Amino acid sequence: MNKAVILAGGQGKRMKAEMPKPLFRVLGEPMLRWVITACESADIADICVVKGFKGEMIDEYLGKKYTTVLQAERLGTGHAVQQAIPFLENDTSGNTLVLCGDAPFIDEETIRNSLAMHEKQGNAVTVITAELENPFGYGRIIRSAKGISGIVEQKDATDEQKAVKEVNSGAYWFRTADLVELLGKLTNDNAQNEYYLTDTVSIAISEGKNAGAFKSDNADIIKGANDRKDLLELNTYARMAVINKHLENGVEFTCTDGVIIERGVEIGVGTEILPNTILRRNTSVGRNCVIGPNTVVENCKIGDSVKLNTVQAYDSVIESGVHIGPYVHIRPDSLIRSEAKIGDFVEIKNSTIGEKTAIAHLAYVGDSDIGKRVNIGCGTVTVNYDGIAKSRCVIGDNCFIGCNTNLIAPVKLGKAVYTAAGTTVTRDVPDYALAIDRGVMKINEGYTLRKLKTKLGK
Ligand code: UD1
Ligand code: CA
Repeated sequence: MNKAVILAGGQGKRMKAEMPKPLFRVLGEPMLRWVITACESADIADICVVKGFKGEMIDEYLGKKYTTVLQAERLGTGHAVQQAIPFLENDTSGNTLVLCGDAPFIDEETIRNSLAMHEKQGNAVTVITAELENPFGYGRIIRSAKGISGIVEQKDATDEQKAVKEVNSGAYWFRTADLVELLGKLTNDNAQNEYYLTDTVSIAISEGKNAGAFKSDNADIIKGANDRKDLLELNTYARMAVINKHLENGVEFTCTDGVIIERGVEIGVGTEILPNTILRRNTSVGRNCVIGPNTVVENCKIGDSVKLNTVQAYDSVIESGVHIGPYVHIRPDSLIRSEAKIGDFVEIKNSTIGEKTAIAHLAYVGDSDIGKRVNIGCGTVTVNYDGIAKSRCVIGDNCFIGCNTNLIAPVKLGKAVYTAAGTTVTRDVPDYALAIDRGVMKINEGYTLRKLKTKLGK
């Protein structure tokens, strides 16, 4: 079976943070996740991550689904892969892909095509390479008549070798059995006194094995980040790549300022995305919506023809034809049914809002189930928390909740109930009733004039 070893031991000193470099995020996902996703989309499920600096953070992030091994001392890329020998020895029948956990743009196509070439040529090792205008710092690929003869690191290269523009991406396919054998033969006899994984190429050739290079057309697979500036560049690159994909799919952008769309997001044809819109995680947006400006949506399912203007929405479902905003917060586990309208300064949490219901302004609806065609007046508050427990409010279809109503949960209003403005509802209300809770209003005539007279003494 084919498997992968991902090197994730780097510290990234220039990031100036106490975190392994592969955990830095590009478009909301750690670089390590990008690399794992590429493996998995190429059907490589058996993955071993080599951790080093703050390795416990890698374990914490990955959970139990993947094998991890620790490289306690940083003695080179070859030494890092040596730590995975027990993992490799579990099954040496197939091939092993070695990748860098901090080069996020390796892709499924490159992985599959390079494997095909690796197998076709019968190679012990196939290096994935790319051509760079400025190859400084990378290992140079030394081509030979039959394939390649070796990889020379920047610090070990002659001037002639330094002129080579084809470089080692840091990704390779090995025949697993050959990899285990070659790892045993590495030495640290070089300018950096490191065990170079790249030396496996020349060792394989000296033993009469084949080594090849798969040159990717996509030089971006090499891109990595050494500092925050590089990381911003990776983010900018990934951000525009995602936006371009949506443009091709018929999504409208008139200005992409402040628009960040993570790669798991789906958007339907004819939808317009306005500035300062951030769409995260597994969000899906239907057709002909207008999303933004100034909107954050995380992990929501949004129907067709929805308008969200200056909205924050998390882990919720918003059905077709709903208009929300401006200045609305939709908190997790909410379901906004079709054609509901939610206006300014409204917060919804863990609630269902029925079809065509309107909550036009200044309301808090938490832990509630609201029916169809309900009108929730300005200033309505569901009092869902008594300091100890949270309880639900249930409001039937066609209710009219007057302004500044307090609904003390748990409480249930039947169908077509009216509540008078200012009412505090403390008991269930049956269908078609009016709930009114008000003192008798008094009028004290001439009050202001009397007050002014005493105060001013006139
Ligand atoms: C390595 C290659 C070089 C290639 C470049 C691509 C070697 C000797 N050289 O360069 O040919 O062009 O990658 O980026 O392999 N790592 C460990 N443990 C170590 C050393 C490195 O886990 O002891 C990890 C790093 O965290 C990183 C990856 O291996 O993810 C590559 O290491 P890095 O130091 O960036 O690359 P170089 O050795 O400079
Ligand atoms: Ca490097």
